[in-house]
Amino acid sequence: MGFIADSLNRISPSATIAVSTKARELKAQGRDIISLSAGEPDFDTPQNIKDAAKKALDQGKTKYTDVDGIPELKAAICAKFQRENGLTYKPSQVSVGTGGKQVLYNALLATLNPGDEVIMPAPCWVSYADIVLLGGAKPVFVATTPEHGYRLQPADLDRAITPKTKWLVFNSPSNPTGAAYSAAELKGLTDVLLKHPHVWVLTDDMYEHLLYDGHKFATMAQVEPKLYDRTLTMNGLSKAYCMTGWRLGYAAGPEPLIKAMCKLQSQSTSNPCSITQWAAVEALNGPQDFIARNNAEFVKRRDLVVAMLNQAKGLKCPKPEGAFYVYPSCAEAIGKTTAKGVVIKTDEDFVTALLDEEGVACVHGAAFAGSPAFRISYATSTTALEEACKRIQRFCANLR
Ligand SMILES: Cc1ncc(COP(=O)(O)O)c(C=O)c1O
Repeated sequence: MGFIADSLNRISPSATIAVSTKARELKAQGRDIISLSAGEPDFDTPQNIKDAAKKALDQGKTKYTDVDGIPELKAAICAKFQRENGLTYKPSQVSVGTGGKQVLYNALLATLNPGDEVIMPAPCWVSYADIVLLGGAKPVFVATTPEHGYRLQPADLDRAITPKTKWLVFNSPSNPTGAAYSAAELKGLTDVLLKHPHVWVLTDDMYEHLLYDGHKFATMAQVEPKLYDRTLTMNGLSKAYCMTGWRLGYAAGPEPLIKAMCKLQSQSTSNPCSITQWAAVEALNGPQDFIARNNAEFVKRRDLVVAMLNQAKGLKCPKPEGAFYVYPSCAEAIGKTTAKGVVIKTDEDFVTALLDEEGVACVHGAAFAGSPAFRISYATSTTALEEACKRIQRFCANLR
C-alpha cells in the first residue's frame, strides 16, 4: 500500500515473535503445542525485585523521569560495570531504554547514514539486520561455522571490513547459537579492530550471566582498553533477571554517542517505565544468588536437549557454552519428505512441518541468517522439553 513508508518495505516483522504468536494461536484453537520459540526464561522475576516495584508504586514514583534513566539507576549501572567487568563509566556515559532492543535501535539509528555497513557474525539475533536496514545502511553478515563453535574468526572479520564499515555488532553468549567467547578469543578480534580505527563496536552482552561449565565472561572494552573510546557496551535485565516483560536495557559508551541516543529517545518514547527503573536499581544492587540457581537448572536442560537431539536421525546439535538456546543443523533433512508428504526444501519448511505435524514450535535458521538449522529455546520445563525432543525424534525418524 502506497501510504506506508518505503523504509518499512526494507524490513520484516520479527520472526521469533511471529512463530511465538502462531504457537499461541494454535494453542488457543485447542491444539497440543509445545513452544520452544520464545527467548525468555520461564522463571519468575525474583521477589525482592517485585517488592521494589511495589514500593516505587506506593511511593508515587509514577511520573516522567529523566529521558535516559534516573540517577539512582545510572549509578547502579556504573557500579555493575565496575564490579563485574572492570569498566569505569560515569553516569553521563550511560543510557537506559525500554529494553535492550530500544538501546540498540537508538545506537544504530543515531549513527547510521545511507551507504554505511554494519558487520554482524551470522547466525545472529533477528533484529540487528532489520534495524540496520531501517537506518538505511547495509548489514554485512560474516558466516561462522559449527566447526569453529559458531565463533567469528579474526581473519574473516578482517576481510569483511571496508572503508564504509561503521560498526561491528557483536554478541556473546550468542542468540541463537549459545556460543560464547573467552577473553583470549576476544583478543584475536580486538587485535583486528585496532588495525581499523574507524570501526566501532556495539557489544550486546545481554546473556553475560548465562554461562555454564566454568566459562568466564569477557567483554571487548575490558579485553582491549584501547577500544574504550569506540565501544558501546550494551546489557539488560530481560534474560538473567527474568524481566522480559518489564522492558529495561542499558548501555555505556562515549558521551557524544550517549547524548545522541538520548536525543532520539526524547523524541520517541521518553523515559523507560519509572516503576521498572526502580525495580532495576534493586535488581542490580540486590542479591545475585538466584542467577547461579537458575543456571544450574539451565545446564541440566541444555544437556538433556543436546543429548536427545543428537539421537534424532539426521540432526547435529553442538553443545553451547551459554544463553538458553541450542542450534541444531538440519542439513540432512533438506530434500526429504515428511510423514504427511511435505517436501522439505528449507529450514523454514522443516520448522513449519514440525509445528503442523508434531506441534513443536521452533525458529528457522534463515531468520538468523544461518541455514540450514533451527533454534530451540530450552528455557522451559524439563517435562515439556523431553516431550518436545521425543516428537522431534519421531518427526526426523519419519523423514524419507
Ligand atoms: C541478543 C539479544 N539482544 C537483545 C535482546 C533484546 O532484549 P530486550 O529488549 O528484552 O532487553 C535480545 C532479546 O531476545 C537478544 O536475544
